[in-house]
Amino acid sequence: MSDIQFTGASRTFKRDGHDLLVLDSIDFHVNDQEFVAIVGPSGCGKTTCMRMVAGLEFPTSGTVKVANKIVTQPGPDRAVVFQQFALFPWKTVYENIEFGLRAKGLKQARRKEIIAHYLKIMNLTGCENSYPHQLSGGMQQRVAIARAYALDPSVLLMDEPFGALDAQTRVVMQEELVKLARVNPRTVLFITHSVEESVFLADRVIVMTKSPGSIKETVDIKTIRHHENWDSHSKIEEVMDLESFVHLRTHIWKSLREEHGGEVDAPTDGA
Ligand SMILES: Nc1ncnc2c1ncn2[C@@H]1O[C@H](COP(=O)(O)OP(=O)(O)OP(=O)(O)O)[C@@H](O)[C@H]1O
Ligand SMILES: [Mg+2]
Repeated sequence: MSDIQFTGASRTFKRDGHDLLVLDSIDFHVNDQEFVAIVGPSGCGKTTCMRMVAGLEFPTSGTVKVANKIVTQPGPDRAVVFQQFALFPWKTVYENIEFGLRAKGLKQARRKEIIAHYLKIMNLTGCENSYPHQLSGGMQQRVAIARAYALDPSVLLMDEPFGALDAQTRVVMQEELVKLARVNPRTVLFITHSVEESVFLADRVIVMTKSPGSIKETVDIKTIRHHENWDSHSKIEEVMDLESFVHLRTHIWKSLREEHGGEVDAPTDGA
C-alpha cells in the first residue's frame, strides 16, 4: 500500500526577511496505484508539493505521509522524473538505467533483464550504447522514464516531464505513458501545465489556486473514462473530441482561468 496523504500541509519560505506563505493547508489523498495530476498557475507551489513527497522539502506545518509514514528523507520507494531529463551525460543509456539497479544490489543478469524490458516498452531497443547527447529530447525523456520505472518504485513523481518536448513527441510520450501505466500501475503524482494532458493521463485531476497554493477542486476522470469506455483507446486523437473529454477539459480550464483572473486566452493545449 503506497498512498500519499497531505494533511494541513503548509509551507513558508523566507523572502526579503519575511515569511512568505507558499502552500496553504494542503489536504489531499492519492490512493495506492492511482494516477493523480496536479494543475495550477505558475508559482502556486506544485513543485514544492512534489518535493515534499520526494523528501527534498518539508512542510512548515501539517504532514505529508507516504504509505502512512511521515516523509523525512528521499527513498528508493519514490522515483522522480523532472522536466529536464537529468540523465548522467557520461553514462550510456544502459548505464543510466543500470545505476539505480546496482544501488539496489540486483545481480547483473537480473539488471540486464529489467533494462531490456523497459527499453523495449519505451521503444529504445538498440540505443543501449548511446550517450544522452546522441539522443533527441524525447528519447532522453524516455530513458528517464524507463530509469524511473525500472527501479520499481511504488510511487512515481513527475514534474512536467514532457514540458520541454515538441508537441508531436509529447503526444507519443503521453501515449507510451498511458500504456506503461496500464501494464505497470503505480501511485503517480504528475504535474503539468497542459489541461488536455491531465485529462488524458490521470484518474483524478487536482486544481490548485494561485499563490498561496491551496486545493481548489478535485475532478474525477476515471469514473467518466470507464463509463465512456476511453480505456479501450490509447491514442489521444481517439478521445480528445469526445463530448465527455471536451466537457472535462473545459471545466478544468475554466477553473484554472478563474485563478488567472480571467486574463488567459483560450487553451492552446500541449503548451
Ligand atoms: N527553496 C526556495 N526558497 C524560496 N522560495 C521558494 C523555494 N522554492 C520555491 N519557492 C517559492 O515558492 C513558490 C512556489 O514555487 P513552486 O516551484 O512550487 O511553484 P510551481 O507551482 O511549481 O510553479 P511552476 O508552474 O512555474 O513550475 C514560488 O513563489 C517560489 O519562488
Ligand atoms: Mg514547478
